[in-house]
Amino acid sequence: MNNLKLLNQSEVKKILTMKDVLQAVEDAFGSWGRGEVQMPPKSYLIFDEQNGDLRSMPAYLPGKNAGVKIVTVHPDNTSQGLPTVMALCVLNDPNTGFPVAVMDAGLLTAVRTGAAGGVASKWLAKEGSSEIGLIGSGVQAQYQIEAHLDFMNIDHIKISDPNKQATKDLSDWIKKKDSSIDISVTDIKNACDCDVLITTTPVRNPIVMDSMIVRPHTHINAIGADAEGKQEIEGNLVKRSNVIVDDWTQTSHSGEINVPCHEGWFTKDMVAGEIGTIVAEADSSFKNVLTIFDSTGLAIQDMATANIVLKKAIEKGMGIDWSPLK
Ligand SMILES: NC(=O)c1ccc[n+]([C@@H]2O[C@H](COP(=O)([O-])OP(=O)(O)OC[C@H]3O[C@@H](n4cnc5c(N)ncnc54)[C@H](O)[C@@H]3O)[C@@H](O)[C@H]2O)c1
Repeated sequence: MNNLKLLNQSEVKKILTMKDVLQAVEDAFGSWGRGEVQMPPKSYLIFDEQNGDLRSMPAYLPGKNAGVKIVTVHPDNTSQGLPTVMALCVLNDPNTGFPVAVMDAGLLTAVRTGAAGGVASKWLAKEGSSEIGLIGSGVQAQYQIEAHLDFMNIDHIKISDPNKQATKDLSDWIKKKDSSIDISVTDIKNACDCDVLITTTPVRNPIVMDSMIVRPHTHINAIGADAEGKQEIEGNLVKRSNVIVDDWTQTSHSGEINVPCHEGWFTKDMVAGEIGTIVAEADSSFKNVLTIFDSTGLAIQDMATANIVLKKAIEKGMGIDWSPLK
């Protein structure tokens, strides 16, 4: 193959289904847990003045195209009509190195992040969980819900976000997906009284306090903190929870536990588990206890998802074929 496939976001959207991505991400976590993948930790460029950053995320899952995602996170972008998160994935054939695809990965990032939260809840949340609390109701929140709708019988979703438009848009979207779900717009404390709490804000000071988590089995997907200095959850709550990381190197650098690690009181031996090992070993021992899944986002999630997009795009004849060596 001498052509590279160029795919934009609307083409990726036509191809991707949450069901496929949930399976691909779960399989990728399992491979990671069995030590089958290559994935150096993501590296960062920090734009202090512009309040943003750029990350490069390479990975290779055996039997698939290797590649790298370049992703930027600029929380002030919404005022300019741009998404907070924008990304591109480049896929390379591991046999020759030939670049086989360049695709938009903004939507892909949101879908694979939603799927990671879904897989974490599948393995870490109590059986029969039916009540979700959402802190933050932006892009990531929607895809977290989409993933949970796939496998969880959701009765009630409590949403807390000071952005009334974002909250309304998400509520309307959920109603369209499943009108039987009760939706409450509420404060953070009330939203925390739930089975599965999902935090997707870019805050730098904790907003989920220890006293707010009252159920002994609540599972928390901590999604928002994915860069140095970001933190959504109060230290005392982290201390009394079983912290499951996606990857120790990444989470200690830039995940929910990055601030506790930099302060020196959270150490590697305090990690209760890694999602890859839990999936690889089908470990269901955390389902009835308080858990935090610290998600920074793994490049294997992106590469597993991008490979699905490329395969389906070739089957459907979608995208633009371009010859880079011409
Ligand atoms: N872990 C991962 O793999 C991963 C992947 C992608 C994005 N992220 C991170 O997730 C976060 C959210 O990304 P997004 O694309 O959804 O952004 P977004 O801007 O679409 O949504 C963020 C929402 O958080 C809300 N918010 C801000 N402060 C709040 C507060 N104090 N209480 C309640 N809500 C508050 C905002 O009003 C907004 O609606 C970012 O920090 C991003 O870097 C993580």
